[in-house]
Amino acid sequence: MRAVTYSELGGPEVLEVADVPEPHAGPGQVRIKVAAASVNPVDWKTFRGLMPGAQAPAGPTVLGWDASGVVDEVGEGVTGVAVGDDVFGFGRGTQAERTVLTAWAPKPASLDWSVAAAAPSALETSERVLRLLDLQPGQTLFVAGGAGGVGAVLVQMAVAAGVTVVASASADNQGYLAEIGAVGVPYGEGLVDRVRAAAPDGVDAVADVAGKTPAADLFALAPSRDKVLSIANFDLAAEGGRVTGGSESERRPTEALAQGVELLRESKVVIKVQTFPLERAREAYETSLSGHVRGKLVLLP
Ligand SMILES: NC(=O)c1ccc[n+]([C@@H]2O[C@H](COP(=O)([O-])OP(=O)(O)OC[C@H]3O[C@@H](n4cnc5c(N)ncnc54)[C@H](OP(=O)(O)O)[C@@H]3O)[C@@H](O)[C@H]2O)c1
Repeated sequence: MRAVTYSELGGPEVLEVADVPEPHAGPGQVRIKVAAASVNPVDWKTFRGLMPGAQAPAGPTVLGWDASGVVDEVGEGVTGVAVGDDVFGFGRGTQAERTVLTAWAPKPASLDWSVAAAAPSALETSERVLRLLDLQPGQTLFVAGGAGGVGAVLVQMAVAAGVTVVASASADNQGYLAEIGAVGVPYGEGLVDRVRAAAPDGVDAVADVAGKTPAADLFALAPSRDKVLSIANFDLAAEGGRVTGGSESERRPTEALAQGVELLRESKVVIKVQTFPLERAREAYETSLSGHVRGKLVLLP
C-alpha cells in the first residue's frame, strides 16, 4: 500500500510516498481503508528529530496520528463495530491507504471525511486542556494561538461550554477568530494590554496552544501561575506553569470523540480543512512547518 514515510531524519525532503506492507488489526483494534488522514506538527517534529530521544528509524516509518475511513478488519475482542462501518479516530501511521485505529467513534453520515480525519487529535487535546484548567461556564479563557489546528477547536469547545474566550492570532486571522466565537487580539508587542482591554475583569485561565507567546505575558494575564497550561512550551513547567504532553494518564480519547461528535454534528465546532493528495504530502508539511496554518491540513490517499 502507498504511505507517507521517512527513513532518515531531516526536512520535508526526507519524505517519500512509498510502498509498505499493510498493517493488520491486533486485539482491541480495527483496521480501516483510509478516506483521509490529518497532518499534525508532531509528525514533522518526529521526522526532523525534534522529539525527546529522537533517532533515525530502522526502516521506512509511516507518519500520522489520526484518520477517517471504512472498517475492513476487526481485531480480537472488539465489539460494537463491524466491517463496512464508517469511523474516525486515533492510530499510528495513519497517512496511508490502510491503517489500524486504537480508539475510534462512528462517523456521522453528515460529517465530511476530511473534517472527521482532522478532528481526533484536536478534540482530544482541547478536551484535555479544558478539563485540566477546570474551566466553568461564565469564566473567561485566554487562548494564546487560537487559529491553528488545536486552537480553533479549543476556542469553539470552550465557547460551547459557556466560557468567554479571548484568543491571539496574526492580523490575518482576526476575522477567523471572530467567526469561531472568540474576541481576537493580534499577538506580539503589547499583547498583555490588548487582552486586558478585551477582558477588563481579567481572565480565569490561560491556554498556550502555539508555544510562541513569551512566558512573562502568559503569567501576567493569569490569576496564578498554575492557571497557565501549555501544550507546546514545556519550559513553562520550570517557572511554575503547567504543561501537558498527552500521557496516557491524562488522555481521554474515547470521551473526547463522543463529545466531539455531538459538537461537530450541531456545528458548534466547525473545522476548516485544507486537503492535499497523499502524493503532495511534502507540500502539506511545508505548510505546517510555516507555523501559520488556519484550521487543519489533511491528506487524501
Ligand atoms: N502536548 C500535546 O498534547 C499537543 C497536542 C497537539 C499539538 N501540540 C503542539 O501544539 C502546537 C500547536 O499545534 P497545532 O496543530 O494547533 O499547530 P498549527 O495548526 O500549525 O497552528 C499553529 C498556530 O500557531 C499560531 N501562531 C504562530 N505564531 C504565534 C504567536 N507568536 N503567538 C500565538 N500564536 C501563534 C498560528 O497563528 P497565525 O497563523 O495567526 O500566525 C497558527 O494558527 C504544536 O507545537 C504541536 O506540536 C501538542
